[in-house]
Order: sequence, then structure tokens, then C-alpha cells
Amino acid sequence: MSVLIKNGRVVTAIDDYKADIYIGESQVDVIGKTLVMEADTVIDATDKLVIPGGVDPHTHLEMPFGGTTTSDDFVTGTRAAAFGGTTTLIDFAIQFKGASTLAALDTWHSKAQGKTAIDYGFHMIITDMPESRLHEMRRLSDEGVTSYKMFMAYPGVLLSDDGTIFRTMRKAGEDGTLICMHAENGIVIDELVQIALKKGQIEPKYHAYTRPTRLEAEGVHRALAIAEVAQAPCYIVHLSSYDALEQLRAAQARGVMAHAETCPQYLLLDIGYYEQPGFDAAKYVLTPPLREKWNQDELWRGLRGDALHAISTDHCPFCLREQKEIGRDDFSKIPNGGPGVENRLSLIYHYGVGGGHISINRFVDLTSTAPAKIFGLFPKKGTIAVGSDADIVIFDPNQEETISYYNARTHHMNIDYNAYEGFKVKGMTETVILRGKVIIDRGEYVGQPGNGQFIKRGPYGGMYAGSAGKAAGSEAPAIERKAAGFS
Ligand code: URP
Ligand code: ZN
Ligand code: ZN
Repeated sequence: MSVLIKNGRVVTAIDDYKADIYIGESQVDVIGKTLVMEADTVIDATDKLVIPGGVDPHTHLEMPFGGTTTSDDFVTGTRAAAFGGTTTLIDFAIQFKGASTLAALDTWHSKAQGKTAIDYGFHMIITDMPESRLHEMRRLSDEGVTSYKMFMAYPGVLLSDDGTIFRTMRKAGEDGTLICMHAENGIVIDELVQIALKKGQIEPKYHAYTRPTRLEAEGVHRALAIAEVAQAPCYIVHLSSYDALEQLRAAQARGVMAHAETCPQYLLLDIGYYEQPGFDAAKYVLTPPLREKWNQDELWRGLRGDALHAISTDHCPFCLREQKEIGRDDFSKIPNGGPGVENRLSLIYHYGVGGGHISINRFVDLTSTAPAKIFGLFPKKGTIAVGSDADIVIFDPNQEETISYYNARTHHMNIDYNAYEGFKVKGMTETVILRGKVIIDRGEYVGQPGNGQFIKRGPYGGMYAGSAGKAAGSEAPAIERKAAGFS
């Protein structure tokens, strides 16, 4: 089924022009000023933006965590993502201590296969990595899993010690893959949590007060120092504060291959949300926690100046009733995480571009192109170009909405609140095309579970890899990298 998009304003990370786009099957075939071609479907995009489908590199669907499981599975979470203009997400498979990463990958494939509305990949969460299992990492990258997440937080559950981090980073550097790091000093945080609980400080707000920005900054510094010695790239996930940003900038200035993402919650919500009455503040128990408001301008500056390279959602939804309730009498038991996969593009377009923080090209870069490049998906994903997958969003810059769960349910995420309740946005996804197939048609879902495919990603393709980064699905050999002193 061919598609012709007429009269749109095509915006990529670097371009901005009026053109027609012809999609013969699943890729962009022709881009031209005025195309005179027959097509099965013709979409009039007059006065609309035509942008690459969003790439969200950080979601947690159907993930067991905190004594429960995230409330969106691969059906509901990916459909919600599609409504919001995201056509590819990268979710996290979890290797539990002592178990094989390859078995974990099988488990996550069986959760997702045939169920998704959009394309997807996996990072592998590593909780331990003895020398004897390092060889699994090459197997994973052959399977298209070319990035990992490690944790400096959550001792006893997900935390890896520094030796494990160094060993894994070295191997990732050799293989041309990438370690993503949850950078917070979880050991000290646990001490602070115990002190708070002993004082009877059990309310949700103490989640924030026991996770100071200095301990995030310490984690960022340590992660990037270890990556520097391991001669491996490192991607800091959900960076939330100015203190942490300073450490990122310092490492980048030394030439460390350091990337970082932030998320809408850190740009738009702040520590004041923990003062909501009753147990409502539990909605915002996510990690790292919301910070003092002044950090937001610093994060926008980091996005504008290229210290921060991507905006993900860290979509990790738990319902307020029944799930967050687990921690009603002890904030440390509240499952950590919040929703957002559906609202990312509108929020960042409205508050980022509309708010004068970033250009429209940078908006596309941060929400699609840069994550596609860093995570080995580019140029298959992340841009509109001849030969790229026809993952395209027709975005109406004038359509308005007040985000709500309580007044009018504006979202499709399977969760009983919206973290951005009452936020007004101007700029919304209208139509979404996934590899040439319309899956959202003027706000209506017309796709089905199974439209999405698992995407085998190529090696780390960040800007530091230069020409070594190759498109997903290519036969490119892993980057040859010999760590000085370890050859
Ligand atoms: O609160 C969060 N972010 N939950 C998900 C797990 C993680 O650390 O990303
Ligand atoms: Zn994390
Ligand atoms: Zn996360």
C-alpha cells in the first residue's frame, strides 16, 4: 500500500522545507517539491509538520519491579507511544543475579513478540557479570542488543559494584557497544533512607529528601571516570540535576565519550509536587526524584548546548491505587517510576520549542535522531530520507489539549493518573506512519498488535564513534578498540 504525503513542512534534525513524500512500501522512496504520483493513500499535510517518528530510548513495559509489575504491557504501552508520535522504543530486559543474559533476552522476546504497535529494541540490564559470562555480551550484540544498563543504585537488587562496572564497560568498549548508567550512590542513599524511617519520616516526599543531587553527581562522576579508564562510551540515563550536569560537562571536556539523556519530568515538574495532599505525592516517586525548580533552566541549557543528547521518558508506570499503595506506610516501598511515553513529543514541542528553549530542529534531534544515532538505529530510524524506514509523524502545531486523567481521559496509557495533569499543550500528533503503514489516522488508532517489529540494532553510533557507527542491520564489524595498558 503506497502513501503520498502532500504539502507538509518536512522537519528533520537539520532540514526544514516544504515537500511531498512518496512511500512505495515501507521506506521513503521519493521526496520532491511537488510530486505528481498515484498512491493508495494520499495525506494532505498542509499547515502540518512532517517529522521522523519519535525514538524513545528508555521505557519499562511489563517490568517486574518493587514487588509489582509496570502497568503498561507491550500492547498498551506501545499503542500509547504511537498515539504520542513515537514509532520506536527501546525497552529493558533484565538479567537477574546469577542468570544468563541470553535467557533474559528470550524472556523479554516472549513478552513483546507479536504484541507491539510500534518497532522496538531491547537494552539488557546487567546485575552481575563474572569473567566467565563476559562472552555473552558478544552474543547479545549479534542478536541486535547493543546496549546495557547498569545500576549504581538499588543495593541488593540491581546495583553492580565498581569492579563489575569496569569489567563490563571494557568489554562493551571492545565490542562497540554502550553502557547506560543509572548514576546515583545507592549505598549512601540507603543509609539516608534508614535514618529517615527511624525518625518516622514515612511520607512520599522523603523519597526526594533522601536522594540528594550530590549523590547523583557522585554517580555521574564515578561512572564517567570508570568509562574513561575502560576507554568505553557511557550514556547517563535520566539525568535530573545541575550538580550531575556539571560532572557530565567536566567529563566531556576531558574527552570522555559521555552521553546523557534527561526526561520531561525533570524539565517540567519539580520538588513542590511532593507537597500534594495525602498520598497523591506518591505519583511522583520516581528515580532520580524531582528536583528544585531552578535545575530546569540548567537542563534546558544543557540540551541547547549539546551536553545532553536525548530526551527519553523513563516510562515506568505504576497505578496510584493498588501499586503505589504498597508504600503507603513507608516511602521506600513505593514502586519507583512514573508514566509519560504518550506525552513526550507534545510536552517538548510546547514547552521546549514554544517556550524558546530549543529550536524545532533540535526538538527532532533530541526526541528522534540523536537517540537513533547513539543506539545504532540510524539512518534506518530517526530521520526522513530516501531509503530510511517510512516512520513519519504528521504533527499539528496548532492543535491544543489540556492533559488530564481526571477531567477527560486524554491518554491511552494503562495508568490511573497522568503526571502532567492540567498541563496545556499546543502541538499534537495527528497521524502516524510506521514503515509505510498508517497506524494512527487523525487521532484514531487503526493499527493492531503485531504491527511493530523487533529491530536488531547496530553498534554504538554516537558522535564519538565517527564512521565506526553503522546502521542497524548492517554487517559492520564491532569497533576495534584496545584499551591502553590492557592489550
Ligand atoms: O523511577 C524509575 N526511574 N524507575 C525505573 C527504574 C529506573 O531506574 O530507571
Ligand atoms: Zn534508572
Ligand atoms: Zn528507567
